[in-house]
Amino acid sequence: MEIISNPTQDEIKKAAKALKDGHLVAFPTETVYGLGADAINEKAVSRIYSVKSRPTDHPLIVHISSINQLYKWAIDIPDYAIKLAKEFWPGPMTLILKRSNLAKDFITGGQGNVGVRVPMNPIALALLSEFEKLNGLGIAAPSANRFGGVSSTTAEAVVDELAMFLGNKDLILDGGKSLIGVESSIIDCTAITPAVLRPGAVTEKMINSITNLPLVFNTKSTQVKASGLLDSHYSPKAKVILNVTPKPGEGFIAMADIPTPNGAIRLASPATIKEFSHVLYSSLRQADQTNINVISVTLPKSGGLGDAIIDRLNRAKS
Ligand code: TXA
Ligand code: MG
Repeated sequence: MEIISNPTQDEIKKAAKALKDGHLVAFPTETVYGLGADAINEKAVSRIYSVKSRPTDHPLIVHISSINQLYKWAIDIPDYAIKLAKEFWPGPMTLILKRSNLAKDFITGGQGNVGVRVPMNPIALALLSEFEKLNGLGIAAPSANRFGGVSSTTAEAVVDELAMFLGNKDLILDGGKSLIGVESSIIDCTAITPAVLRPGAVTEKMINSITNLPLVFNTKSTQVKASGLLDSHYSPKAKVILNVTPKPGEGFIAMADIPTPNGAIRLASPATIKEFSHVLYSSLRQADQTNINVISVTLPKSGGLGDAIIDRLNRAKS
């Protein structure tokens, strides 16, 4: 495995070629780091599952460079989904749509739907467009962490999580810390009205304002299998407790205006909700690295990006 920091155009070309040759490339996105493979190469995609130790019936998101590629992967796309794609791509939003023949069972976990997203990070977009120049059709990429664990928001985190499972031709592109820090919003667009399966930085309000349709919250959906929707996920080794005063020696994460209780170890004091999502996963990781056993988090206010943070913390809690 090779780590490439702030990759040049030539190094991104090399990474696209590695993908085309069936190797894995971890890359930065604006949400979290992804562990990428050529989405039509079954053998390469199967390595994602073994590296992550992820059950094979959990579907993967296909990353594409622009809305033009969407029609290759999905069919019967409703008008409201096109509107959302035009408005929020590139960006932190995944659309679940009826799959085309290109989206095989090894991508969709055997479901009739496929998840597609155009990420916003410049390295991710450059990688996608170089990959397409090599006739690549899409990059399958889950978050670059072991199954059930905390997503990676830095290349160092990817190394900690996955380096020992990667092969010597696999690559990690280091593009610094992920801007947003929590995973994309997942919007199910397979019914006549949209449903939020996973809240993210594209918020309920933003979706409403574009579609003018009622929006269902379905983060406990039983129709679609989505690992990020499991009750337990995104968990550090430390025990996560919510809205409980920490004891001395325990970790503490809360908005900056909330003082640190006596003896607690302050892991993060975000001043804004945006900063909260930006630092959340790295502060959970920091706790594990410093052998803190319990992390107490004071939940932010609900609404907007706060919903995404609350959703992840409820799944991270023990
Ligand atoms: O921000 C993100 O979405 C990141 C970056 C790398 O793009 N990716 C990510 O992937 O979070 P992953 O695999 O860790 O989480 C994607 C979630 C999973 O819960 C998966 O089951 C669900 O999306 N998903 C993917 N395809 C789906 C489908 N066809 N139907 C329902 N859920 C799907
Ligand atoms: Mg994940």
